[in-house]
Amino acid sequence: MEIADQVAVVTGGASGIGRSIALALGDAGARGVVVADIDGPGAVKVAAEIEAAGHPALAMSADMTQEADVRALVAAGEDVFGPVDLFFSNAGIIVAGGVEVADDAWQRIWAINVHSHIYAARALLPGILARGRGYMVITASAAGLLTQLGSAPYAVTKHAAVALAEWLSITYGDRGLIVSALCPQAVTSNLLATSRRELGESALPDSVGETGGSAQAAVDGVLDPDDVAAIVLDAVRAEQFLILPHPEVATYERRRADDRERWLRGMRRFQSQLSDPA
Ligand SMILES: NC(=O)c1ccc[n+]([C@@H]2O[C@H](COP(=O)([O-])OP(=O)(O)OC[C@H]3O[C@@H](n4cnc5c(N)ncnc54)[C@H](O)[C@@H]3O)[C@@H](O)[C@H]2O)c1
Repeated sequence: MEIADQVAVVTGGASGIGRSIALALGDAGARGVVVADIDGPGAVKVAAEIEAAGHPALAMSADMTQEADVRALVAAGEDVFGPVDLFFSNAGIIVAGGVEVADDAWQRIWAINVHSHIYAARALLPGILARGRGYMVITASAAGLLTQLGSAPYAVTKHAAVALAEWLSITYGDRGLIVSALCPQAVTSNLLATSRRELGESALPDSVGETGGSAQAAVDGVLDPDDVAAIVLDAVRAEQFLILPHPEVATYERRRADDRERWLRGMRRFQSQLSDPA
């Protein structure tokens, strides 16, 4: 889908990957960019940046775990700019830990990393199916194809996000809905900073290749969100389902599928090095 003259919504647009996507959409000639975030003032700042660059934008304070907020977001975009063509369901969080993580934290990460995409699809589908066109980009993670050392809630919810994106594409792909799943490894952002603090320096988010951890991040690189946004917009133009800003992830996913036992052994080895660095 060409970006020029399209109406776009970006959730989690106040910072990191979402902010860069929102700014890039403005520069690419979108008819309007709705910047949505639970951080309302942050969304206002990013919308102002887009407007300062000469492009139309609207800031919305929205909690993506609240269906009413998601509906209001789509309705506001439509009222101000016209029907939403492109929806970047990007807001997400990370919670460190395993099965011991408290239920309320599991529920919070499910709500943001998975259920928000369901609310977005619910709000968008009637219009998209009626018009016969529309695009959803779901920000998952390389952790949704592989795993996330040190965070069961992140690994599990990001796998669910990829599964939902695939299901939507299969079910509605021939009726006008185009879907992409964005699956990066490490990208400079607040989320990355939180991960470094809570998971430890050596278990960067989505550093899940054969060697994993900081070694993997050193090999595959921590990307700048502006570079990720450029890759995302190119993939949208090409209507490509799987967006891998770190192309190495395709190899890791293939290795995992080809020989799951070997992949699990390798990941266990790396996990034990993290627990016992000596
Ligand atoms: N940074 C990485 O290394 C990395 C790697 C892979 C995937 N991702 C994914 O990219 C997405 C964007 O994260 P980021 O790295 O830019 O982090 P970030 O923390 O900079 O941005 C996330 C944004 O989402 C917003 N948000 C959180 N909860 C919300 C809610 N309930 N409703 C609305 N907005 C909410 C936050 O306020 C924030 O502005 C996330 O889904 C994340 O899981 C990040």
